[in-house]
Amino acid sequence: MPVAEDLTAPVRERRLAPWRDGRGTGAAAHEHRLLTAARPALPWLNWVGTFAKPLLRVPRLGWITADPLTARAVLNDPEHFTLLSEGGVGHLWAQILGDWVYDLFDGAGHYDLRTRSRELFTEKTSVAFVATAWGDRMTRARASFEAGEPLDVADLSRILVGQMVVTLLGMHVPDATDETYRSIFETGEELAAIALGTTSDTVLPAEKIAKAREIVERLTGHIDASFATASSATVIGRCRDLGLSVRETKGLSTLLMVAGTETAASAMARTAALLFDTGEQNRLIEHPEFTEGAVREALRVTSPAPIIGRSVLADLEIGGRTLRAGERIVVLTWTANNLAGEYRIDRAYIPQNRQLWFGAGRHLCLGGPLARAELTAMVQLLVGDGRPFRVVSREYGKRVLIPAYRSLVVQKVGSRYGR
Ligand code: HEM
Repeated sequence: MPVAEDLTAPVRERRLAPWRDGRGTGAAAHEHRLLTAARPALPWLNWVGTFAKPLLRVPRLGWITADPLTARAVLNDPEHFTLLSEGGVGHLWAQILGDWVYDLFDGAGHYDLRTRSRELFTEKTSVAFVATAWGDRMTRARASFEAGEPLDVADLSRILVGQMVVTLLGMHVPDATDETYRSIFETGEELAAIALGTTSDTVLPAEKIAKAREIVERLTGHIDASFATASSATVIGRCRDLGLSVRETKGLSTLLMVAGTETAASAMARTAALLFDTGEQNRLIEHPEFTEGAVREALRVTSPAPIIGRSVLADLEIGGRTLRAGERIVVLTWTANNLAGEYRIDRAYIPQNRQLWFGAGRHLCLGGPLARAELTAMVQLLVGDGRPFRVVSREYGKRVLIPAYRSLVVQKVGSRYGR
């Protein structure tokens, strides 16, 4: 299959070298350590990926690609690639949710679901979801941060994402505190770890299936009763209005929980770190009109979902290589996106990469506009008052599925403990 596309803007590639990136105190060094803490092999895989342009075969892993055009060709070709075969996430989910997910995740039902849920997260609805879910908590965080108090952005991100889950799923949590939202976030994390953490062998043991089902029920069980009456301001109500069944709505809600929690929280704290480590926060304060670029660049450089896996369904020629049915291919989104250069808030949109951090094709992230709205709110919290901040301390998350800061404490410069 040809991988032909008009390359309008040639990209000057950045060199990636794990042994060099791991040193120093700059943005690349911190990102390197963060990736290493999450999964020690990740920086090496990312580096090997620089030779996977267009494709490279790696023993035991299968094919890898870090070429944006090849990546999109793979993700846009459901005739030859699937995520449902044994070894893929669909197989894991089927054991937890039931065989019907085969249709909903990649079959005809998926197309139907995506068509009907297209309007779920638009720029407008996403900004509204952020205002509803986060308004009060953000106002409080911003007031104390601007008054000079230290703020753990990683912790706050997990709280906010937990709050977003409650809002989207219309969960009833009376007298909720930060602790309530932290624990909802952790529940999502736990489910993701069971459902996505074992892709080398996708046959789940009975106790893991039971645990995952119990979590899914805890998070989505209320939907049976609330479906008919849920407000259209919630995802449940919107799903109903868009013609989705209760089962589809519960399946989609589970997917939202897993796909949109750790990724979003990871991006939020890493954006804060990047703005400080690169000094780009100063340019952003001078040029707030670059906020959109600051968010897009943060998504590109962090690429919180660093790899996307697929199985080959049928033999095909791609990038001059022959891929055989049953083989695996891993799209290295982090590498493909990072080769395009360092974090610059005024970098123009890169046509080759488009928004590869959200995947591409039929599984392109459904929550992209929501993730952007969430990040925009975080950037405004950090520099919206026109004053810079500094990172006081940081701790990388160890052995986590999605690379993320465990803690990232920031404070306004000029505050008692700031410089
Ligand atoms: C920075 C944050 C995020 C990143 C980097 C991200 C990335 C991705 C990627 C790469 C995929 C494609 C996976 C594949 O092709 O196998 C995906 C799918 C998905 N994402 Fe996101 N995501 C983010 C936030 C969100 C949010 C906030 C939501 C919603 C609450 C969300 C909901 C989904 C859903 C439902 C899918 C599955 C779509 C499908 O299979 O049709 N994501 N995401």
